[in-house]
Amino acid sequence: MPWCWSFPLSPVADPASQRVRTYHARRGRLSDRHREALLDTGERWLLDPTGGLLHFDDVFGRTAPVVLDIGCGMGESSLIQAAAAPEVDIVAIDVHTRGIATLLRAGEREGLTNVRAVLGDAVVFIEQRVARGSLAGARIYFPDPWPKVRHQKRRLVQPGFMALLVDRLAPGGFVHCATDDESYATQMLEVVDAEPRLANPYADFAPRHVTDSAIPGVVDRPVTKYERRAQRLGHPVRDVWATRRLPA
Ligand SMILES: C[S@@+](CC[C@H](N)C(=O)[O-])C[C@H]1O[C@@H](n2cnc3c(N)ncnc32)[C@H](O)[C@@H]1O
Repeated sequence: MPWCWSFPLSPVADPASQRVRTYHARRGRLSDRHREALLDTGERWLLDPTGGLLHFDDVFGRTAPVVLDIGCGMGESSLIQAAAAPEVDIVAIDVHTRGIATLLRAGEREGLTNVRAVLGDAVVFIEQRVARGSLAGARIYFPDPWPKVRHQKRRLVQPGFMALLVDRLAPGGFVHCATDDESYATQMLEVVDAEPRLANPYADFAPRHVTDSAIPGVVDRPVTKYERRAQRLGHPVRDVWATRRLPA
């Protein structure tokens, strides 16, 4: 039986319940439209956040670079980047049920075949389902900023998470983060700089458009809701970019 038929239409709980949650708890009923999107497309699009290691060649039915979009929200940038680079496969992850349902509906409508979605905690998914060295890249665009000092332990981009992510990157694979929160931007840069397996060619924040055509999967970061909001508020958006060092 496909796993999604028993799918609870809400994110799977983090089995390591002691772990600090990096996302906001959300309440509210799922609309019929979103419920239908999950049920109709779930079998084709959704990957179980927990279980054994995935073979992305089997998941997508081809051998191609795989990029994670971690905390994809409504999937706005995942879909634009998937359409811009059909030769790259994208796995978009979020705990936000309505966000994932929106992504599924739009992806089906656009006929995209290079996107899969995970409804669940990205940390759990990466730990359990992503093989070491299997990723061409990972994007973390506008992660929840947790601006209050007492909440900053909830930020996703921390040394432990970065170590996990880098372990799953292929040599030369990239990490691309963006935020309009000044203190989180500084934290992202520090986390990347402190990870010995990462190289930051800019030695500082990256330019707005990182387009290194030598690296598979790299396309421009689209302007989405969070960037437009930052522009309205006059907040500068910072990009942080690094690649996994090649073996010596
Ligand atoms: C501010 S939104 C940004 C969405 C999107 N990246 C964009 O730029 O439009 C941050 C998203 O990260 C998700 N998130 C936070 N922690 C997460 C985690 N551990 N696993 C999956 N999603 C997470 C939240 O649910 C939220 O939808």
